Amino acid sequence: MPKLFRPSVRLTENDVTDEQVYLNRRSLLKSMGFLGASTLLSTPASAAGWFWSDDEEKTPFQAQPLEFTQPPKYQINETRTPENKVTSYNNFYEFGTSKDAPAKNATEFQTNPWTLKVDGLVNKPLTLDYDALTARFPLQERIYRLRCVEAWSMVVPWVGFELASLIKQADPMMSAKYVAFETLYDRDQMPGQRSRFMGGGIDYPYVEGLRLDEAMHPLTLMAVGLYGKTLPPQNGAPIRLVVPWKYGFKSIKSIVRIRLTDKEPPTTWNRLASNEYGFYANVNPSVAHPRWSQASERRITTGGLLARNRIETQMFNGYTEVAPMYEGMNLSRYY
Ligand code: MTE
Repeated sequence: MPKLFRPSVRLTENDVTDEQVYLNRRSLLKSMGFLGASTLLSTPASAAGWFWSDDEEKTPFQAQPLEFTQPPKYQINETRTPENKVTSYNNFYEFGTSKDAPAKNATEFQTNPWTLKVDGLVNKPLTLDYDALTARFPLQERIYRLRCVEAWSMVVPWVGFELASLIKQADPMMSAKYVAFETLYDRDQMPGQRSRFMGGGIDYPYVEGLRLDEAMHPLTLMAVGLYGKTLPPQNGAPIRLVVPWKYGFKSIKSIVRIRLTDKEPPTTWNRLASNEYGFYANVNPSVAHPRWSQASERRITTGGLLARNRIETQMFNGYTEVAPMYEGMNLSRYY
């Protein structure tokens, strides 16, 4: 997402002080052997953890193979973006705003144990632990186009399950109209959440939302993997949303909470710049971003970043089966 030069995102003296105090406190605690203790306190067997250093308790990410089916409908005939590009050119502002920052800064992001809660206007609130994320629902591989609002795109073989199957298990109440999503808030692990400068001026946690019918659409995926293996941290481990007909910022990463509600929920980029990023954010080549055209996109494939691979952007990113959900809506107003 292009940096916004607005007063609210400039680094102020307060931010610097805040970060410095935080870092000092952290190094003091660390030197006293205290850091890391909080996560270990609940397990008596780890009492010795009081004297572990921060580094010893972290295990770098290792992708695990997943079992899944490959429904022919979702095996599209387009060149896939190579895995090394999918996992090294990322937007995950919790780990920094440059494209290479998430892969560098999230290597030790701890995603197991993990808790995903589904609550709000549901009759059966759910809590899924790490193992349930990959075991509770049969997994499918789906090759989707991912179109970022910044006008680049990729073709990614995700592994996941339909969000609809999760929401159905929670048994939504009649009053539920929207679904709100929230990313983990963990300042210890996510440097972008500690510094407004590094985190792009976002008020964390990152939040997103969909209308209930959009959330229940069969294309809407909860992804737990890509290229046949568990998601790397920089792509939103252990579980993220993928809504292929919307700009990429709707596809929120590392989700801890899904809440059904009767009101349109706030969304991170809309809060930051409502004239640039709407709630709907459907890919639409005829509605320009205030600062650039959305008529075409740079497809990231095997060529270098400068390769001639500009293609025309398609309405709904080519997923025209979603059009009936927006019948009668003026899509240049609800952008
Ligand atoms: N989710 C969180 N929590 N934080 C983010 O910064 N960036 C979004 C989206 N989800 C983002 C996020 C944007 S702008 C895009 S384009 C996609 O993630 C990028 O996903 P990828 O890095 O897996 O390609």
